[in-house]
Order: sequence, then structure tokens, then C-alpha cells
Amino acid sequence: MARTWTMADASAAGLRRRSLALLLLLLVAAGHAVAGASGIRVDPIRLPSSAAFREAPAFRNGDECPPPGSPEGRVDVAMTLDANYLRGTMAAVFSILQHTACPESPDPLARSAPRSRTWNQRHRFDPSRVRGRISRSVRHALDQPLNYARIYLADTLPAGVRRVIYLDSDVVVVDDVRKLWSVDLEGHVVAAPEYCHANFTKYFTDAFWSDADLSATFRGRRPCYFNTGVMVMDVAKWRLGGYTRRVEEWMAVQKRKRIYHLGSLPPFLLVLAGDIKAVDHRWNQHGLGGDNMEGKCRSLHPGPISLLHWSGKGKPWLRLDSRKPCTVDYLWAPYDLYKAAATALEE
Ligand SMILES: *[C@@H]1O[C@H](CO)[C@@H](O)[C@H](O)[C@H]1NC(C)=O
Repeated sequence: MARTWTMADASAAGLRRRSLALLLLLLVAAGHAVAGASGIRVDPIRLPSSAAFREAPAFRNGDECPPPGSPEGRVDVAMTLDANYLRGTMAAVFSILQHTACPESPDPLARSAPRSRTWNQRHRFDPSRVRGRISRSVRHALDQPLNYARIYLADTLPAGVRRVIYLDSDVVVVDDVRKLWSVDLEGHVVAAPEYCHANFTKYFTDAFWSDADLSATFRGRRPCYFNTGVMVMDVAKWRLGGYTRRVEEWMAVQKRKRIYHLGSLPPFLLVLAGDIKAVDHRWNQHGLGGDNMEGKCRSLHPGPISLLHWSGKGKPWLRLDSRKPCTVDYLWAPYDLYKAAATALEE
């Protein structure tokens, strides 16, 4: 486990060989609120401009993989996206398939449709579900309803899904996703890398810390920062524990009294910080988009990497298109399936 897996050695992985039934569950934001809708609709919708993408190569399971479809081999990955993030999502999916030893999906949808593009289930996220709950933050992009869709994952996924990996759309996975999938949650509802050296105080306002009733929420916990862009979630436990409502309750507090600065992250911290299963930092090398205000270039932290995450203001596809890429953006470029990008590179 002490090294970063590359594409070449992933296929020779000496790990437990299980078939990967990679079921991608996409929460897709409608561009507009749907009149009369209550909550999340589960009717499939078409994403715009999918013809703008190259088809990925076919992926085949290794000989050791059990037949696709065996339940123990299933890996559910959920991402949320709108048209702006489609390109990032395609790259993320491509990276997952490239680095896993058993990438073939048993999903009938997948086999009847051209390769990697459509082996997914799509669920529409109705932004009106969350719109009235959002308070303004330091960066407008963080206030988009879709950022909050992850709160409603457990309510949206089919009942048979008991665990899910949630990923932001600005990531690439460079290791076998099954390793993250098989983490022992040890009774926790969420597993994610934890950062106990980060200054936790600064995510909340003085008004929060000086209110004894509010700050008492952390009593008995040692809260540490974690990033909600990569999470393994026990969906059944999330539903049973009413976590959606608990996160929403903190958003309601924020509406009445400003208790934190950023968008969708702090309410997660309020409910879960200090009560998650910590996984290795290699699973979320975050911040590659630069900081939230200026989006300056950032370099990699030392240590092994299994997942790269362009959180922060800058996105690699935008910086590459504008021909002002950061060095780390060249790590994203090989997973870009967008046709126009290929043309640009050939120029
Ligand atoms: C953490 O952040 C708070 C608020 O910005 C600040 O007052 C405090 O001095 C910081 N603590 C450390 C150890 O840097």
C-alpha cells in the first residue's frame, strides 16, 4: 500500500481480485427549477453536448476478476454535475476506469450503449430543494445549489445501494478505486482524509465560537477539517441517522446568524468533524485549483497520491483552454476526452 499505483501496475495488482461493477450515479442539476417538483426526481435526462467527447477505449477485466455482476464486486460511485462540470466528470470517470483492475460494468445500460459513456444512472437534482437554504459565501461559485446535492445523495440513491463513494467532478483517480471502496468505516457514517493540523477555528465565525450553545456541538469530539469532495458514505446509516436533516438544520442556523464563511463544507463539519473514519491523505490531494479568492497555482504536497483534486477557484480545463495552465494541470490533461481540446493540442 506504500506506493502510488500507475496504470501499468494496476493491472498486475496483487490485491484481492474482485470484479468491479462500477456503477456511476450522477446527480444532474436541471438548469432551472422544476415547477411543482418536490425533491429529487429520478427520471433520466440527457446531458447537453455529450457528442463533444471522444469515446474512451474499451476496458476489459483481468482474467482473475469474477464475472461482472457479482454483488460483492460492486463499486458505486456518485458524482454531481451540470453542463459546466461535464468535462471534468468525463475525465474523472476515465481515470477511474484506467486505474482499476476490473473495470467492466455489468450494468445492462452499459453493455447496450457505447462503452464508457453511458454506463451510469442519472438522477436529476432539483435545485429548488436547497435554494432557499443557501447563504452567500466568500466565493459565489460555492453557493451553487449543485454543491449541496451531496447532502441528498442518500435520499436519491436506489434502496439497494448501501455504500457509495462520492467524488467531486474536478478529480482524477490514479489508483484502484476498489482500495478506497473497501475501507472499514468502523461504525462511522463517512470516511475521508482528515487534517488535524489545519486550523479548524477559522472555518467558523466569532459569532459561532462565542455562542456557548452552538459551539457545544463539538463537545466530546476532537473536530478536524476534512474535505467533502471525496467521501465514502454508509448510505444506510446516513438515512437512519437523519444526517440530511442534521446538515440542513445547520444551514438554517447560518441563515439566521452568520456562523461560517464557506459554502457547503462547514455544515458537514458541524455534523461530522471528529466523527469520521480517517483514510490516508493520498486519497485527496486537494487544493490544486488554488485558493478560493485568487486561484493561484499550487504544487503537489509530498507523499504518495491516489487521487488529485482541483478544489479551489481554478479548474484545469479552463486554465488549459486559456493557455495559462498551472504545472499540476498537465496531470489532468491526459484524461480529458473533450474533442475541442484534442484539436487544440494538435494545432
Ligand atoms: C486559528 O485561526 C483563528 C481565527 O482565524 C486565529 O484567531 C488563531 O490564532 C489561529 N490559531 C492558530 C494556532 O494559528
